[in-house]
Amino acid sequence: SDNLLIDRYGRVARDLRVSLTDKCNLRCTYCMPADGLPWLAGPQLLTDDEVVRLIRVAVCQLGVTEVRFTGGEPLIRPGLVGIVAACAALDPRPRLSLTTNGIGLARTATTLRAAGLDRVNISLDTLDRDRFARLTRRDRLPDVLAGLAAAATAGLTPVKINSVLMRGVNDDEAPALLRFALDHGYELRFIEQMPLDAQHGWDRSAMVTADEILTTLRTAYDLSPDPAARGAAPAETWLVDGGPARVGVIGTVTRPFCGDCDRTRLTADGQIRNCLFATDESDLRGALRAGVDDDELARRWQAATRGKRAGHGIDDPTFLQPSRPMSAIGG
Ligand code: GTP
Ligand code: 5AD
Ligand code: SF4
Repeated sequence: SDNLLIDRYGRVARDLRVSLTDKCNLRCTYCMPADGLPWLAGPQLLTDDEVVRLIRVAVCQLGVTEVRFTGGEPLIRPGLVGIVAACAALDPRPRLSLTTNGIGLARTATTLRAAGLDRVNISLDTLDRDRFARLTRRDRLPDVLAGLAAAATAGLTPVKINSVLMRGVNDDEAPALLRFALDHGYELRFIEQMPLDAQHGWDRSAMVTADEILTTLRTAYDLSPDPAARGAAPAETWLVDGGPARVGVIGTVTRPFCGDCDRTRLTADGQIRNCLFATDESDLRGALRAGVDDDELARRWQAATRGKRAGHGIDDPTFLQPSRPMSAIGG
């Protein structure tokens, strides 16, 4: 355990989420304000070489086996394909995945697959074009649907869909989204809305809970427990109409899974976050640019991991939302 990212509760972080940019080409209401945010400045961002070096430290020295690229919107990062290729060349080779809104994926899916990307998760909260335009403040539903299809064709599978349901906005669409996913062979997961929006407007009563989602789905589908082991996955899954198709629910708020958490996060500006809801970060960019060696970077990452809290604390009366929004943390 000398060479692992392990916290004081014994949890081992084997899954690294790397945010490659805080920018996005959508403005989903649960994430960003209409006018966007002050983006990170160029020099604050890790360069492609710096990103790859830190991932190498995590994979080759600290036991990380899964690397997921996030944003903002990671497809906006000019060096994405090169970063993926460099990670695929690491020994041991980590599994590589991407969480994206799908815009532009129709153009890049094949190239990303060839570079070594294994699979993608794509956000899609509605199948209605007008509703999509209101929800994301951009009229881009056709691009997302094209991206989904291209991902499947390119073999970036299993293709998963992430849907955040909002009361009175798209919560009537849960069965239709599942129908769509089943018809196309995508694996759908519904996500409880989390207090991570830039506007700090999260309201517990507006959150559609895991229980509500399951009740709604059961009006149209038979859901049975999934015999596959859940491991550290955020999504709890059910077999749909006897399987093999599955549907998942990520119930961070009402069904927390922090006890099994295996995540560590690197932001686009080189900060380690030991939890999505951490209130402090550890600056690896500063250390790296000050010239410390890989062993020292590894030690700092381990120190940052040790301080991870037992859980997100959303239910505590003293809970404070992280100062950075989801788009800058990387989800
Ligand atoms: P898979 O490896 O395919 O299961 O990916 P994933 O579901 O872990 O990742 P994805 O990027 O698709 O995220 C889906 C949702 O889960 C997003 O809302 C994330 O913010 C959330 N999520 C991912 N990791 C964590 C975590 O460690 N804790 C919590 N609370 N939520 C997480
Ligand atoms: N709560 C829950 N999920 C969110 N996402 C973005 N913001 C929130 C939030 N406040 C989702 C996106 C994407 C994934 C990375 O996180 O829809 O699918
Ligand atoms: Fe892990 Fe934090 Fe998510 Fe809990 S909220 S599962 S500790 S990242």
